[in-house]
Amino acid sequence: MNAAEPDWLDLRVPFDDAARQYALPLLDMAARALSLDAERQVGTERPLVVIDLGAGTGNSMRFFDRHLVQRLPERPLHWVLVDADESALEIAAGRFTTAVRTVAAPITSLPGIAAEVLDEVLTEVGKASMTEVGTAKPRDERRTAAAAGTPDSCDLLITGSALLDVLTRDDLTAIVDTLHRFSGIGIFLLSISGQWHLTPTRPEDGVLDEAFVAHQRRDSRLGTQAAPVLETKARSIGARVESSASPWHLEAPRDSEFLTRFLTERVDAAVEEGPRLRTAGRAWLTDRLAQAELRVVVDHIDVLIDATGHQRPRRSQLSTRSDEPKR
Ligand SMILES: C[S@@+](CC[C@H](N)C(=O)[O-])C[C@H]1O[C@@H](n2cnc3c(N)ncnc32)[C@H](O)[C@@H]1O
Repeated sequence: MNAAEPDWLDLRVPFDDAARQYALPLLDMAARALSLDAERQVGTERPLVVIDLGAGTGNSMRFFDRHLVQRLPERPLHWVLVDADESALEIAAGRFTTAVRTVAAPITSLPGIAAEVLDEVLTEVGKASMTEVGTAKPRDERRTAAAAGTPDSCDLLITGSALLDVLTRDDLTAIVDTLHRFSGIGIFLLSISGQWHLTPTRPEDGVLDEAFVAHQRRDSRLGTQAAPVLETKARSIGARVESSASPWHLEAPRDSEFLTRFLTERVDAAVEEGPRLRTAGRAWLTDRLAQAELRVVVDHIDVLIDATGHQRPRRSQLSTRSDEPKR
């Protein structure tokens, strides 16, 4: 696992946030499922545990929190940020005024993390309802509900941004197992899914992209195959899966600072993968950075997994919120 540079994560924010607007219909769908579940509960304040995987310095949580609070005003959110990079989590923890739990751990630890937090949060709910009306379930019963999920509850949302493509099969298995075990919902945004599209085109564009895509698959990472593999695993447990595209749209000179960093790092990765590309790659980069009218579209995919087991209206039947503009 390579940690991401905090300044790179911050430089990405306006471009990621613009691309994440494409995910709002998926977020509406997730919120709808979570609201329906909340409506079935006794009491109006059933908490929702939200685990942001590969949380980095907190930019993903900031986006999800803002949009979930709007859509789920009745559900108190219990945020847990998980990342193998402890220093990134320290930055994240300092950025939020709301209580945020951070866990420095690999994603393969997710099932245990989710079990522990759900048990803790649901135990608190039980204590509160016992104080209020004296009807709390015994601790063992609550633990069983947290471990197995119940047909009427969805207490777990797993989020992630710019993450899937750096994960391995074992990581994806941990995610799907956790969603299955706790009847949860997962939403994963901005996974690198395919190509870049540069205008004007150059003959070297394709070979550099191929080398980058191969580099993404180093050390057993799934790279561009991560989203399809996750979708297949999720369908195999009977979950409902939806996905949509969320490209970055970059253009010079408006996005020059970002383009310089982005293109330089892509060429570095391509050259690391194929050292024979060094001379051509450097020449290509110099030319590209000098192009005043350069346009770059970078493909991403967003994936929603609903493992609650409930029948939901299809996407086409849901009204799409239009209160937030596309970039
Ligand atoms: C590209 S960054 C994205 C950070 C954040 N989600 C955002 O959108 O700004 C990917 C993050 O995933 C973390 N990461 C990658 N693989 C991981 C793994 N197997 N277990 C835990 N964290 C991982 C990295 O440390 C890094 O912080």
